[in-house]
Amino acid sequence: MNFSALLAQHPVFELVKKSAHSLGIEAYVVGGYVRDLILKRPSKDIDFVCVGSGIDLAKEVAANIGSKKKFQVFKNFGTASIHHGDWELEFVGARKESYQRDSRKPIVEEGTLEDDQNRRDFTINALAISLNEENYGALIDPFGGVKDLKKKIIKTPLEPDVTFSDDPLRMIRAIRFASQLNFDIAPNTFDSIIKNAERLKIISAERITDELNKIILTEKPSYGFKLLYHAQLLDKFFPEIVELQGVDEKNGFKHKDNFYHTLQVLDNTAEYGGDLWLRWAAILHDIAKPATKRFNPKQGWTFHGHEDKGARMVPKIFKRMKLPLNEKMKYVQKLVLLHLRPIPLVRDNITDNAVRRLLFEAGDDIEDLMTLCRADVTSKNMNKVKQFRANFDKVEQKMKEVEENDQVRNFQPPVSGEDIMKAFDLSPCKEIGIIKSEIKEAILDGEIQNNREEAYEYMLEVGRKLKLKAQ
Ligand code: CTP
Repeated sequence: MNFSALLAQHPVFELVKKSAHSLGIEAYVVGGYVRDLILKRPSKDIDFVCVGSGIDLAKEVAANIGSKKKFQVFKNFGTASIHHGDWELEFVGARKESYQRDSRKPIVEEGTLEDDQNRRDFTINALAISLNEENYGALIDPFGGVKDLKKKIIKTPLEPDVTFSDDPLRMIRAIRFASQLNFDIAPNTFDSIIKNAERLKIISAERITDELNKIILTEKPSYGFKLLYHAQLLDKFFPEIVELQGVDEKNGFKHKDNFYHTLQVLDNTAEYGGDLWLRWAAILHDIAKPATKRFNPKQGWTFHGHEDKGARMVPKIFKRMKLPLNEKMKYVQKLVLLHLRPIPLVRDNITDNAVRRLLFEAGDDIEDLMTLCRADVTSKNMNKVKQFRANFDKVEQKMKEVEENDQVRNFQPPVSGEDIMKAFDLSPCKEIGIIKSEIKEAILDGEIQNNREEAYEYMLEVGRKLKLKAQ
């Protein structure tokens, strides 16, 4: 197989060839870029390996590109990168040890291309294309990576126990690549994952979460989660979700398996085009079901308050998993907390107040909440699913009407604290907060309209009740 025609699509390959030649060293393009080139997947990261100093090669390439601005050296790791337009070019010297770009462990013992390929994670990631004059564009595929790409198989180049002990994160990476590419994992590779699952414990939460997020962002994330579960990896870093698995039966009452339900909801949000955080909300929406599960002889199994407890569990899970503790987390918490609220709004006799309150609480996340609710409808009976989802169309219509009238979605108090102070000649005091909150409640209850005139009148009324004197 010769790739020189494909390499011609990007001028950087000729440049690296020239640079390596002038330094008198061998250079190759390796890893994910080659894999994606064969799979015709777009890729913006190109990894180069040379038999010599990666930093020297990068320097030479940067000089040839004519820009040193976006050139970065990571001395400890013997690597350097160049940011070139949309492209991220990484240079490394061939090494004898495991190639772990994101590990903190400094390298390295220099090696040959063969050594380097031996120490990579999977056969499909151990492909190299020569950038040397004598065989420019030739594919070097010592482990049958192309064959595995065709067979859609994830397999380690060496004995899996060896490859995984070099870097146990690779066990999750195997599942990540299987999920992204819709591949299988070779049986002996998978057996080795089960055998070595405990070793995941030495891997940092950041690295695990990075891979997990990539799994979550795939087209059908349930596939990756099921693999993680069956490989006995999932419980090592996400025990709460594993707890959801299982069905209890008592006096003829059965509840659904909340693990598989959650995965279905996750797939549904993916199908709706949900981003990472909406998908996290799907993953966590029922997370407190095991903790709130009770048996009631009349009703059967109940999970009262699981939305509330679930929302309270989110920060701890985010913290442990090193997910961001910022507005993204608050968004996930909010959706978990509110995920049941649109359901009763389906009834015909529901008041505008309930709709208004939900709009107020969900704010701009209301559409995402409705997407989560639609995704949460899982049943084998497709007619039922259709009907329930159509009910949410009605709720949305109702929301639209209420919002047009009242604009509470991004509620701004129509009367400010300043207004209140002026009206009653007050300095800052707790009465101001009381009046503001009463006005808000009156608007949400539909007692007054959300406008300045009615709110001002109402403010005077509340003031009178509080025995304040209007100016
Ligand atoms: N690699 C490895 N072991 C790891 C991490 C990386 O052997 N624990 C090697 C693989 O050869 C991989 C290359 O380093 O192809 C680049 O790693 P990375 O950028 O993480 O993965 P890509 O294969 O480039 O895929 P993606 O860009 O989708 O992450």
